[in-house]
Amino acid sequence: MRKKESTYFRNKVVLITGSSRGIGKTLAWQLGKTGARVVLNGRSPERLKNLEEEMRGEQVEVKGVLADVTNPDECTRMIREVIDHFGRLDMLVNMAGLSMRGEAADLHPDVYRMTMETNYLGSVYPTLAALPHIRATRGSILFISSVSALMGFPQFSAYCASKMSLTALAESYRLEMTGTGVHIGIIYVSFTENERGKTVLDARSRLVRKEEVYKGKMDYVPREKVARSIIRQLYRRRYRVNPSFYGKFLSFMKRFFPRLSFAILHMARRKGII
Ligand SMILES: NC(=O)c1ccc[n+]([C@@H]2O[C@H](COP(=O)([O-])OP(=O)(O)OC[C@H]3O[C@@H](n4cnc5c(N)ncnc54)[C@H](OP(=O)(O)O)[C@@H]3O)[C@@H](O)[C@H]2O)c1
Repeated sequence: MRKKESTYFRNKVVLITGSSRGIGKTLAWQLGKTGARVVLNGRSPERLKNLEEEMRGEQVEVKGVLADVTNPDECTRMIREVIDHFGRLDMLVNMAGLSMRGEAADLHPDVYRMTMETNYLGSVYPTLAALPHIRATRGSILFISSVSALMGFPQFSAYCASKMSLTALAESYRLEMTGTGVHIGIIYVSFTENERGKTVLDARSRLVRKEEVYKGKMDYVPREKVARSIIRQLYRRRYRVNPSFYGKFLSFMKRFFPRLSFAILHMARRKGII
């Protein structure tokens, strides 16, 4: 009989790339509270160490691994450290991400390169390194995508392209993993509450605080709600999850009314809404 969700994650080893802050950090806390053994990742030693200590203080079994997901060798080392420490790996959540803002034609080429390196290759490299261990545990690999992958948005071209590429990657992996017991999933996260200090790329490829380039008012989903959707997806081993009303509306419109969707976005852009 299948375990209940409340006990399903107990003692499972879950690696969340990009979990030193933001949605990844919230997910790490929620999984930790369910009894999972959590592996944190990021590039800032201080952020990682502080979070690790905080979580340990709350009796969560946790390990922080410093690694840049855009570097394949560092990803190989990260997985080796996980196996050396816990002896197994059950789930990989490819969370590390980088956003941007600017007109497509004005973007410095580095913006395209850096978003693709972090969002696409930064999911490919950890997956390649983790796969033999996930096969052994018949575990899960989850790709964190965005509603920005459901349609190309103005001002987000490089980000949309990098997140759309995850759809193709997940589809191929899903087919190839059929019959192996490995669960492949992808989730299209909507605009989420940001942790203070979040940085994104501007058109000249400089990292700036998100508030400096996103002036508009948005209805942000709480991070806790996004983390809950991810946990439910991992538990149910579902392939595709598009949890928000906004994401469902976008998918519906694009599928059944593609020209109208384009016209609405065009009008919103002319009015300065996006
Ligand atoms: N926030 C939203 O509205 C939203 C909407 C849809 C989808 N998403 C997706 O959800 C994920 C998390 O978003 P978020 O808003 O929580 O981001 P965030 O606050 O900017 O956090 C990003 C995390 O990724 C880590 N990171 C970035 N580049 C890395 C790299 N090269 N190697 C290792 N770690 C790296 C960061 O730590 P260090 O800087 O210390 O490395 C940090 O822990 C991303 O994939 C994002 O695209 C977010």
